[in-house]
Amino acid sequence: MYDGGLVAHGIDTTRPSVARVYDYFLGGKDNYESDRQLYQQIMKIAPEAPEWARANRRWLSQVITWLAGEVGVRRFIDAGSGLPTAENTHQIAQKANSEASVVYIDNDPSVVAHGRALLVDNDRTQFTAADLTKPDEVLADPAVAELLAGGEPVALVMALMLHHISDYEQTRAIAQTYVDALPPGSYLAITHACKPGDGGPVDELVTELAEKVRSAFPTLAFRSVAEISSLFCGLEILEPGVVRLADWHIPDGRVEDDPPTGVRDIIFGGVAHKS
Ligand SMILES: C[S@@+](CC[C@H](N)C(=O)[O-])C[C@H]1O[C@@H](n2cnc3c(N)ncnc32)[C@H](O)[C@@H]1O
Repeated sequence: MYDGGLVAHGIDTTRPSVARVYDYFLGGKDNYESDRQLYQQIMKIAPEAPEWARANRRWLSQVITWLAGEVGVRRFIDAGSGLPTAENTHQIAQKANSEASVVYIDNDPSVVAHGRALLVDNDRTQFTAADLTKPDEVLADPAVAELLAGGEPVALVMALMLHHISDYEQTRAIAQTYVDALPPGSYLAITHACKPGDGGPVDELVTELAEKVRSAFPTLAFRSVAEISSLFCGLEILEPGVVRLADWHIPDGRVEDDPPTGVRDIIFGGVAHKS
């Protein structure tokens, strides 16, 4: 029986994929029974999970619009891009700055299959299928190398990606390699699943959630705010720091009207500048 090319693309529909489950939280269509089952299990523990995904996309849009528009950054790397969704990084960036170029990177076969076609829709966008835990290979990729060449500031976005590397020291070393490769004046934007470690309701929720998703996503790591902050590798973390996404705002102090609130937010993020 023809499988629609899934096997040829290396897509395993019997196991949930991070990219597809996340996309399902955002209302996407590229998912299978295994993804939907995990989605249901997460929803039982954390019915607000779709709001976490939406808040993450809102944050991404805010950060990219600000960097491409007000700051004038013209080069973006979206590392761990995920499946194409309603508004992708290049659409957001190019709306704010028509000269913005974006290189997307992901290694999920579903993203590779759909992303290449849908994310590369003009001559300023490229898609690289690569494993971000191998920074030397990623940095040697022609599209990535070209974007970094010439010394122009680059915005490196690693949204909900670094928490998929379980070992903390390895994660820190990988982040450091990317930071070292960024030209002066660049920006690093990170969102990450957080376990605050204060014994509060979020810690409790994270413990339950980690248990539930462990067999599907064995490398998923929830980290403290201090650990997440350290993944910026000593760069200047801009105001308001590494905070829950509902508390994040553009560094000039302008606060969005009525930011969404969520007492059990587990996604924290921040933006740093390389001088
Ligand atoms: C939860 S999604 C986030 C998508 C998007 N960055 C966002 O924030 O909306 C995480 C993405 O990171 C990708 N990813 C995780 N580990 C990766 C790795 N080692 N190399 C490349 N991509 C990776 C997954 O395939 C997935 O598409």
